[in-house]
Amino acid sequence: MSDCYAVVGNPVGHSLSPEIHAAFARQTGQDIEYVKLLAPLDAFTAVVNKFRSDGGKGINVTVPFKFDAFRMCEPAPSAVAAGAVNTLDFRGDKVEGFNTDGIGLIADLERNLGFSLRDKRVLVMGAGGATYGVVQPILDACPQSLVIANRTVHKATELVARYTLSSKATQVTAVGYPDLATAQFDLIINATSAGLRDEMPPLPQAVFGPDALAYDMVYGRQTPFLTFAQAHGARTADGLGMLVEQAAAAFKIWRGVEPQTRPVITKLRAGR
Ligand code: ATR
Repeated sequence: MSDCYAVVGNPVGHSLSPEIHAAFARQTGQDIEYVKLLAPLDAFTAVVNKFRSDGGKGINVTVPFKFDAFRMCEPAPSAVAAGAVNTLDFRGDKVEGFNTDGIGLIADLERNLGFSLRDKRVLVMGAGGATYGVVQPILDACPQSLVIANRTVHKATELVARYTLSSKATQVTAVGYPDLATAQFDLIINATSAGLRDEMPPLPQAVFGPDALAYDMVYGRQTPFLTFAQAHGARTADGLGMLVEQAAAAFKIWRGVEPQTRPVITKLRAGR
């Protein structure tokens, strides 16, 4: 019988994870089955425990359950740093939790897009779950500075306080959007959910430095942020590469082999 994995979320119908993991399995000769599981908002743990007791080997966790997943596992350092979990690995009695979102973002930026974060000025918009997942890996890539902007400023302030000790050389600051009036950045990451509603954060147009890269974690749609960035001369990327890279890191945790991501990204883009 194939080893069974699932992505658990609410909603989960749109998830590309089954397609991505099926492609990785074909490519690496691994015999796995990967399904989508819709969990009621109050029943994430019950759904995961049932899947596990039925013999499931691991879970990917998506919105809105990444904090619930953290509470039910033994967190690896990547999960501790994020305070949230997107990958659960069932090994014997243990439920180990990981966060591969940040690793996925950095792999997409540095490997696929050829953008090195070292000494760069980085702006992340948003202070929700998506931002928590990526802050530590961004700091580990040694940018010159990291600014977290959020509509509700105190959420950004709380998030930054969490990383002050681990920021070492990088200066980390929390701000509101009006504070960005004269600031310029080399990399602007949209980690808000605004694009899903065809909205964008109130970003001043001067934020794009020369050769800036504008990255929206939302994938598969032209968000207002990407349109705005293009109109102001920035290079742009959506979050499809990050999605595939975070999946590859989960696959490696589960199966011990590293799939190639580029052919999968190319195929998914061609399918749109
Ligand atoms: P999560 O589950 O990741 O916490 P969320 O609560 O939908 O998701 O929030 C994601 C982020 O998107 C938040 O930082 C939110 O800003 P607030 O904290 O001020 O609510 C941000 N966000 C969503 N829509 C936005 C918009 N139209 N403009 C600016 N920020 C927005």
